[in-house]
Amino acid sequence: MATIVVTGCSRGIGYELIQVLSEQGHRVFALSRNQGPINDLNLQGVEGLECDVANEAQLQQVKDRLSSEGPIHALVHNAGRLLNKPFLEIESDEFEEVYRVNVFGVARLTQLVLPLMDGAGHVVNISSIGGVQGSVKFPGLSAYSSSKAALIGLTEMWAEEFKEEGPAFNCIALGAVQTEMLEEAFPGYQAPVGPRAVAEYIAHFTLTGQELYNGKVLQLSKSVP
Ligand SMILES: NC(=O)c1ccc[n+]([C@@H]2O[C@H](COP(=O)([O-])OP(=O)(O)OC[C@H]3O[C@@H](n4cnc5c(N)ncnc54)[C@H](OP(=O)(O)O)[C@@H]3O)[C@@H](O)[C@H]2O)c1
Repeated sequence: MATIVVTGCSRGIGYELIQVLSEQGHRVFALSRNQGPINDLNLQGVEGLECDVANEAQLQQVKDRLSSEGPIHALVHNAGRLLNKPFLEIESDEFEEVYRVNVFGVARLTQLVLPLMDGAGHVVNISSIGGVQGSVKFPGLSAYSSSKAALIGLTEMWAEEFKEEGPAFNCIALGAVQTEMLEEAFPGYQAPVGPRAVAEYIAHFTLTGQELYNGKVLQLSKSVP
């Protein structure tokens, strides 16, 4: 049984991921601003922690709660903030909010949880194909996709900086997955894959991927390029 921290669990991929991990018998801390959907599931081994990853005080409370647990085996940075807006119309605070959630919140939570982690553990950053160099790009996603590119950069930097003592750091760059976020980004588009299948893959990779990968970006997509 592993102890796993997952962010962004009230809907979409994170909501499915905590269910998969619970079914497998793991101990899960489910961070989200909205705890209602998590509480309603009443999952075995899952403890919800109210947390906006852009809020320092709430991140500190999470750290305090985790400090009284045994070692954390895995941290999945799944929470994500989408902004679909033409570049010239984006307000500064909107741009910054995307980065606060998708980049700075990820970095801060990593700083707080890392000292509590098992050196053989795994940090998994959930990025997007749009953040991968050379992939197809879409207008309106400059703040979002560039923040996901930053997450890829952080993955590589952290893997290097902690390669001796661990944990391992890897990134999954997702293609389209049928969730509410996708519907907001591309209304009416039907993704070839649903959140449950993706969550099952992320769960497996989170628990085993560090044995074979460090500092890598896996493109979870059937599309070319
Ligand atoms: N769906 C896709 O096609 C797709 C493609 C590429 C990448 N991704 C990435 O995959 C991840 C999951 O996406 P999804 O489609 O499942 O998105 P989603 O349906 O919008 O769910 C996002 C989750 O993130 C949480 N969240 C948002 N802001 C947060 C904050 N400030 N603090 C804590 N939690 C926050 C939300 O919970 P609360 O509101 O409760 O906080 C929600 O549970 C994201 O990182 C996304 O960028 C998705």
